[in-house]
Amino acid sequence: MAIVEARNLTKAFDGQNPAVDNLNLVTEEGEYLVLLGPSGSGKTTLLRLIAGLEQPTSGEIFIAGDPMAGLPPRVRSIAMVFQSYALYPHKTVYENIVFPLKAQGVEAAQRPEKVSWAADLLGIGHLLKRKPRQLSGGERQRVALARALVREPAVFLLDEPLSNLDAKLRATARDELKTFQRRIGVTTLYVTHDQVEAMGLGDRIAVMNEGQLRQIGTPREVYSNPADTFVATFVGSPPMNLIRRGDILVGFRPESMLPDSEKAGEGLSLQVDVSRVEYLGSERHMLGTLAGGDLQNKVTGVLPAAMPLDVREGKDQVFFVHAPDLRFFDAETGKRTDPRPVRDIA
Ligand SMILES: Nc1ncnc2c1ncn2[C@@H]1O[C@H](COP(=O)(O)OP(=O)(O)O)[C@@H](O)[C@H]1O
Ligand SMILES: [Mg+2]
Repeated sequence: MAIVEARNLTKAFDGQNPAVDNLNLVTEEGEYLVLLGPSGSGKTTLLRLIAGLEQPTSGEIFIAGDPMAGLPPRVRSIAMVFQSYALYPHKTVYENIVFPLKAQGVEAAQRPEKVSWAADLLGIGHLLKRKPRQLSGGERQRVALARALVREPAVFLLDEPLSNLDAKLRATARDELKTFQRRIGVTTLYVTHDQVEAMGLGDRIAVMNEGQLRQIGTPREVYSNPADTFVATFVGSPPMNLIRRGDILVGFRPESMLPDSEKAGEGLSLQVDVSRVEYLGSERHMLGTLAGGDLQNKVTGVLPAAMPLDVREGKDQVFFVHAPDLRFFDAETGKRTDPRPVRDIA
């Protein structure tokens, strides 16, 4: 187990905006930290810098307190699993997993025990004699993880490792991965562009955009107190509503839109021109625009299906958002600002 730290880390490829831009980040010991951001936001580059596969343009990386400058990947006590992991097709599962131990010069007598340990942790102990083509996608994925794990790294770097699994398998694999990480307690940096995955897996989430770390916090912190409008709209589906009120944007989550009858205390009343209602089983999504307002003021509400409210397409409906559920952002910079009194924005 080890703490990973990036200090003022920048990586600029030739003639481009920095892929990683003056980034500061410190993991906790043994934590599952999810790096979340859209494609091109610098997630893979950050992992490759930590692994030593790229050299920083400036800034530093520390693993377990030791500066990594100039150290090659193999001495960094990290294991990385890429999105496009490749197993050796002609080797058995056992031979695939033992390979890094051979390369590392681990004594032959010690190898079988280490392979069994890693294979059992991942539930593939019974598959050691098979070849990759005799395995399902999920099993292959676990072999790749076992191969990374067998070296007993202090840090696990996982770059969208589940993205080539189908949706159902992905959910199972995600759950297994988390259980397994908890059991071995290895500090893990897990990259994804999928905010649902990030919310479900992460002890904390580091949200990236354009090479910058926009916010780091628990899923709850990031969801309920986004640092800026990027985080507010990237985390959560449907995203946080943002409506313009002068020099600020007022934000509220779709589930904070309550029927007017639930009004209690201070808050914002919204008359919505409902344009669409989508029934999704446990909930309904209501899409509309603020009546009389400009068309940019689109809003989405998430209503529990059991809520006895007759929302209909083409009909006006009044909603209420309690004051504590309102968030405020500078319309210019997008950064979170201090709350305004409701009377100033109503
Ligand atoms: N080897 C490279 N050479 C030049 N540009 C690169 C290289 N690797 C990544 N980039 C650029 O850096 C930015 C971040 O890429 P990447 O780290 O792969 O993002 P992500 O993993 O979040 O999708 C992108 O604009 C990408 O084109
Ligand atoms: Mg990537």
